[in-house]
Amino acid sequence: MEKVSASLFGRSVVALENFSAADIRLILDAAYKFKQIIRRGVEKKLPNLRGKSIVNLFYEPSTRTRTSFELAGKYLGADVVSITSGTSSIVKGESLRDTLRTIEAMGVDAIVMRHKAEGAADFATRAVSPIIINAGDGAHAHPSQALLDLFTIEQRKGRLAGLKVAIVGDILHSRVARSDVYAMTKMGMEVHLAGPKTLLPRFFAFDGATLHERIETALRGADVVNVLRIQLERQQAGLFPSTREYARVFGINDERLKLAAPDALILHPGPQNKGLEISSAVTYAERSAIHDQVQNGVAVRMALLDLTLNGGEA
Ligand code: NCD
Repeated sequence: MEKVSASLFGRSVVALENFSAADIRLILDAAYKFKQIIRRGVEKKLPNLRGKSIVNLFYEPSTRTRTSFELAGKYLGADVVSITSGTSSIVKGESLRDTLRTIEAMGVDAIVMRHKAEGAADFATRAVSPIIINAGDGAHAHPSQALLDLFTIEQRKGRLAGLKVAIVGDILHSRVARSDVYAMTKMGMEVHLAGPKTLLPRFFAFDGATLHERIETALRGADVVNVLRIQLERQQAGLFPSTREYARVFGINDERLKLAAPDALILHPGPQNKGLEISSAVTYAERSAIHDQVQNGVAVRMALLDLTLNGGEA
């Protein structure tokens, strides 16, 4: 049968660089539809992916991404199994290729994977035949996070094009920043990046974004402020003098936010280091959309799974 949205059907999602503005629009529009269905709350289960199976393969910790991909698959009627590195043969030293091939042999349709190595998801697309959805590979890409950031901004602000966004903090280690810059510039947003010099990339690979060493210039007039987590697990000691010093110079609090637009929306991908990169008052403020991001993550991941595995056909 003819698929209505052939452009995403059968495609792996490793990074958004291969996705056009029209592809991203398709995903956001589908997410609106799924969000309404989830919110109805009566019967969330849809038949779209009935008979399909999805494995979540997570080599790195995750609360939000793994749970929301799992729920997204289940709400669409797929069978979903989650494997974490601590409870699988990965601890016995099985290689990534062998683990992928084992999962493939069981006849799965998609593998949602998170891995500490940049390029792991791309490697998987060449090693096995199921659709691969990248749920984060090292500091490289986190496409579903960027999509849910866009969705959250559009829901709260009513548009994307023309908005100014400041992405602040640990840019160097952030796969979220990398995917956000691509997705946001593609959708016509103006993107500014700021962080301590030691947490900015040495080789600038953020086409279309403006880099600032002073957070103040990035925040000025921003419509959206995306606060990144300081990725303590990915950095060697000594990238900033102390956590107190970081909070003082770069932490997002009410005082510093006076530079941004009065109605600036606050995002954070989570998990937060409260009191370090963001204050509690900002997290729980009216203009914070951090809680919305988590809610929207399920709808956006439903859209991604439905479009890639089913072509978006009802
Ligand atoms: C992000 C990640 O894992 O890249 N978290 C998430 O998926 N919600 C950001 C982070 O860990 O800082």
